[in-house]
Amino acid sequence: MKEILKNNKELKFYIHTFGCQMNENDSERIAGILTAAGAKKSDSPEKSDLIIVNTCAVREKAEEKLSSYLGNLASLKKGKKVYIGVVGCVAQLHQSKLLDKKPFIDFVLGPDNYHQLTHIIHSNFREKFISTDWSQELDESLHKLALRKSNISAYVTIMEGCNNFCSYCIVPFTRGREKFRLKHNIFREVQDLASRGYKEIFLLGQNVNSYKDPKTGEGFSSLLKEINCFNGIEWIRFITSHPKNFSKDTASIMKESEKVCHQLHLPIQSGSSSVLKRMNRGYTREEYLKKITFIRDLMPDISLSTDIIVGFPGETEEEFQETLSLLREIRYTNIFSFRYSPRPLTTASQEKDPVSLEEKRRRLLEVQKLQKNIQIELNKTFIGIVLKVLCSGKSKKDPNIFTGRTDGHQVVNFKSQKNVTYQFVDVQISSCGPYSLFGEAD
Ligand code: SAH
Ligand code: SF4
Ligand code: F3S
Repeated sequence: MKEILKNNKELKFYIHTFGCQMNENDSERIAGILTAAGAKKSDSPEKSDLIIVNTCAVREKAEEKLSSYLGNLASLKKGKKVYIGVVGCVAQLHQSKLLDKKPFIDFVLGPDNYHQLTHIIHSNFREKFISTDWSQELDESLHKLALRKSNISAYVTIMEGCNNFCSYCIVPFTRGREKFRLKHNIFREVQDLASRGYKEIFLLGQNVNSYKDPKTGEGFSSLLKEINCFNGIEWIRFITSHPKNFSKDTASIMKESEKVCHQLHLPIQSGSSSVLKRMNRGYTREEYLKKITFIRDLMPDISLSTDIIVGFPGETEEEFQETLSLLREIRYTNIFSFRYSPRPLTTASQEKDPVSLEEKRRRLLEVQKLQKNIQIELNKTFIGIVLKVLCSGKSKKDPNIFTGRTDGHQVVNFKSQKNVTYQFVDVQISSCGPYSLFGEAD
């Protein structure tokens, strides 16, 4: 330990996170491990002795962004003594090749190897270090250490990994097979968060619906039902649900449990059953629509969002039109849309792909244009209505405006006479754009 205190100087670290909420939560744990080992969090790479980049490999673009970020770090390293660690999904994917290609990197850790950080800093970065082994279980001791970014909303990982092997997706290769936390450990974390004043929790997993308590075999619905009973926590959300595993039982628990938000992210990927089959998604358009009807009958106020991939190999114009018609039919609150990106190790990347890049770009723009118009129409229906908002603080763009989210996870920017940061407030909606609502606190 003493060795890191060079010239009586504390080791300062900075973490840059790419990718999904799972990576965000991992970075919170990494910050906790480093802090427990005596290092101190810093707010900029320039002021740090150790920079950790937590990476995402889901699309080519994510890897390109990483490459340019690492390029900047290489320049920074020329001017000062700084250690650089690359962790997460790209680290798992490329392993030692990263060190060969970018010799300025000091260590590479896959997502199951963050416990090694203590050893790395205690050995004073003496030699290059690489660890990308899989583990059978999630490391509970690391969950306890998480140094959280928010004081009001917290991520709680319940499972990790994926067994689904959608034909386009790299995640099963970077995160390995499904692993579940014990229910009582999840409860302990939620209890601790509640006692520290957290109001909202996000249960995280690549496919939360396949959650099973390793001891009792109890599934996701009973987990949700029991978390609803924790005093202090007011909003419960979960992400991501796989449409083939999202059950009627879970929908019923959502309806019954007053703290579970009426919000559901249910990624469809494509509106065409033939594309869904080639994607190995395990459901058809019709089955998906049936589930949506069931959910909406049960909870008419449910706020739905989804993920869409356009330009999957061989996607015909008719198949693409089915995605547009599905968006018109469901009218999601929000979507995340992507151009298909071929990923190493996936079966889809071996397919012939006659759809040109230009055509894929056109399809993406078309999806986004349609959805934008739907959102403008939907958002207008909130004007004049009062919505409960959990305020996360001041808006980054305008310090006179507060920002927060509704039960449906919609962004609301609003004026308020009082400082309502970290509080629930009722906001009267007065106007809207396609991506947010605007109003004034009562
Ligand atoms: N486990 C989640 C999603 C993980 S990845 C689920 O199954 O829903 C997040 C999103 O990235 C996916 O839903 C998909 O829309 C998108 N995605 C994954 N692989 C992709 C690829 N090769 N090209 C484009 N988008 C991709
Ligand atoms: Fe990827 Fe499919 Fe697993 Fe989601 S369910 S992480 S899209 S393989
Ligand atoms: Fe990216 Fe890994 Fe998450 S590939 S989307 S950071 S699981």
